[in-house]
Amino acid sequence: MIKTLRFPLLTLLPFCFCCFPEITALKDGEDPTIKTMEDFSGYPIHEPHFPNAVSSLSVDIHSLQKQIDELSTFSDTPAPSVTRILYSDKDVLARRYIKNLMGLAGLTVREDSIGNIFGRWDGYEPELAAVSTGSHIDAIPYSGKYDGIVGVLGAIEAINVLKRSGFKPKRSLEVIMFTSEEPTRFGISCLGSRLMAGSEALEKALKKTVDNQNISFLDAARSAGYAKVEEDLSSVFLKKGSYSAFVELHIEQGPILEEEGISIGVVTAIAAPASIKVEFEGNGGHAGAVLMPNRHDAGLAAAELALAVEKHVLESQSIDTVGTVGILELHPGAINSIPSKSHLEIDTRDIDENRRNNVIEKILQSALAIAEKRGVKLSEFKMLNQDPPALSDESIINAVESASQYLNLGHKLMISRAYHDSLFMARISPMGMIFIPCYKGFSHKPEEFASKEDIANGVKVLALTVAKLSRY
Ligand code: GLV
Ligand code: MN
Ligand code: MN
Repeated sequence: MIKTLRFPLLTLLPFCFCCFPEITALKDGEDPTIKTMEDFSGYPIHEPHFPNAVSSLSVDIHSLQKQIDELSTFSDTPAPSVTRILYSDKDVLARRYIKNLMGLAGLTVREDSIGNIFGRWDGYEPELAAVSTGSHIDAIPYSGKYDGIVGVLGAIEAINVLKRSGFKPKRSLEVIMFTSEEPTRFGISCLGSRLMAGSEALEKALKKTVDNQNISFLDAARSAGYAKVEEDLSSVFLKKGSYSAFVELHIEQGPILEEEGISIGVVTAIAAPASIKVEFEGNGGHAGAVLMPNRHDAGLAAAELALAVEKHVLESQSIDTVGTVGILELHPGAINSIPSKSHLEIDTRDIDENRRNNVIEKILQSALAIAEKRGVKLSEFKMLNQDPPALSDESIINAVESASQYLNLGHKLMISRAYHDSLFMARISPMGMIFIPCYKGFSHKPEEFASKEDIANGVKVLALTVAKLSRY
């Protein structure tokens, strides 16, 4: 038997009584959650062309949790960690799992040439631009099972919720699973949504991009069954206006909602990320024989630059400025060999784009100064991406807020310090995001956790939000 979570009636009723008088007129024995869809979205359940519409909402949280757990087993590292890298065997299996669930939900499934996956539920006015929702399922090394996943599996469940309620959308609803939101394999974040939003620079770059095993992006994509024709990549571009709205459900990845005991975060803006690749080349040599005054140590240049990144970030004196050296590699990597080459990748972000760009400029100046002081060569200082921030659309903020209010769920407006596919979807569609709490704000590590209750709340808010947006 399917077990379901229903709206907490006692909390829903006071709100309904003042705003939705028809619910006060329930007959004896009638389920008070009936009419939720009609009340909230204006969906006309009494219209003759949808005779079978029923309007209670229920999230099958047990199945959803089972799916989250099952998906986490497609991993290259042992549980509880999850590692799922673009176009790996585990990624291909996980994709199959998602397509299967989309099919079971009655969605029409298609994929583009880099493996963005779309599951569509046709509206009764299918020629209108669709409302879309989704996220990613790739996972950085040794991470958790909720980042992105909640926004894909939760979106499919939101569709199931709406279908079970008898709702019929006017605009089509589309669930999107984006290819490679994480930059792990090819160094570029939000690869699928960035290309979907029409990045010609990325389209060009992808034809020459290789991973750290020297496997080209195109070969990797082909091995997973995509990119059959090289010129295909521009076919991923979508025109502005292809969607009337895009909404992403995601764990907060920060501690605020949990600390404040708030169920729903309504995202107003996404901070601007940038990443930089830096390489130093020194002389190397024997760790015993080359005396200290004669060294040109590329490793120490990298170490000094890592400290300079922290210093420049802190100099901004804003809590919103962050910087991380997440990759630091030394060549040849032997204990008794002075590093002759070093490689760093630096991630820096801020909600204020100018302030972040000032930090980048200071990092560049430090890299040049360190190279000169240490007699090493700054052989590369390359911006991998330097993206502007994105603002959520008022209409979606309002829809998420009213869905939360309607469900009597505490909510607050907040910014996203993490980036998301929404950052790029905002270029082609009005965008909004729904955050749910996660344990201690943990993310990008195996301890990542979100409770069933919080996930179910997020799915309900998402279901009501897309239902409402699909009416316009
Ligand atoms: C996304 O995973 C990010 O790094 O913000
Ligand atoms: Mn992530
Ligand atoms: Mn994510």
